[in-house]
Amino acid sequence: MLFDSGMATKRILAELPGTTDRRIDALLTLLAENATIVVSGAKIAKEIGVTRQQVWRWIEKLRALGVRVKGHAHSGYHIERMPDILAPQMLSHRLYGTPFARRIYHFFKTDSTNAVAMNLGEAGEPHGAVVLAEEQTAGRGRAGRTWTSEKSAGIYCSVLLRPPIPPAHAPLLTLVAGLAARDAAAEELDALPDIRWPNDLLAGGRKFGGILTEMHAEPDRVHYAVIGIGLNVNQAKMPAPLAPIATSLRIETGKSHSRLELLIRLLQRLDRYYNQFLAEGAAPILRRFAQVSSYFKGKHVRITTAAESFTGTTAGLDSSGVLRVVRDDGRGTEIVLSGDVAEAL
Ligand code: BTN
Repeated sequence: MLFDSGMATKRILAELPGTTDRRIDALLTLLAENATIVVSGAKIAKEIGVTRQQVWRWIEKLRALGVRVKGHAHSGYHIERMPDILAPQMLSHRLYGTPFARRIYHFFKTDSTNAVAMNLGEAGEPHGAVVLAEEQTAGRGRAGRTWTSEKSAGIYCSVLLRPPIPPAHAPLLTLVAGLAARDAAAEELDALPDIRWPNDLLAGGRKFGGILTEMHAEPDRVHYAVIGIGLNVNQAKMPAPLAPIATSLRIETGKSHSRLELLIRLLQRLDRYYNQFLAEGAAPILRRFAQVSSYFKGKHVRITTAAESFTGTTAGLDSSGVLRVVRDDGRGTEIVLSGDVAEAL
């Protein structure tokens, strides 16, 4: 569903096939916000906009999604345990005052939130729209890779931005999002997370998050950009081939984390860094990156691009956010626009 906190909610609702029904979201939010009390069928009917006779059907639908609801039509209902579903209404209330509160699309399952957000961008969706999925069947990673998106274990989020910048500055958007995700995740971890340029979030040397920026632009103007953020949060273990290089917050800390709280913090930070970037330019973003990324300067790395693979030492970022690497083979400083960066020991 699309939750729109403005007056246009009803008009815009259900225009996107496959999104979560507005009544499921409203019911979930109502029960979650009244978790300690029994909510009467009459109140539920009024709040979610169904008849009293239909309430039980919607409760059953919620139960089918794995939400544990106690009670019945006569006594009223209450939620047994707060489910960690990224319910748009709850998010919207908490993101009030940011551009991300206004239009939130939520799917229980979709192919890729980035694909959905790119289509929305093309269709004229305004700045700040957020697309969320509990599960992705074709999550996209960088360089044509896939992003493993286990159901309700991670955060799979895409944000549509319409930044007044030229496409050459787009790498800075990736840094902005990486910093926001890094700061949000830092509060959940015992040891500070690292960022491997441009966008890999690392804990204990293994990757738990990544950013994929896609955009539609003219040579001098970005029409829209989609920042796709994937975070491994509550995965108990990673699939075997990924285990040596990938991790989750749960694996690192031994406990579960609230995806809802983490996402709220992430989007609040994204709002702040993005506004700072527009107001003050690249400098504060680059300074912050230098503070929190061990890859910023002096790291011995192997760079693999489509054209070649070489080793060298990182030497900071230039003003558009691309990485400088002093090559080991004496051929000077390379400007790395894209490619894989790995620590070279
Ligand atoms: C990477 O390869 O490091 C980037 C991964 C980005 C994954 C996220 S999950 C949400 C959004 N939707 C996608 O299809 N990809 C991004």
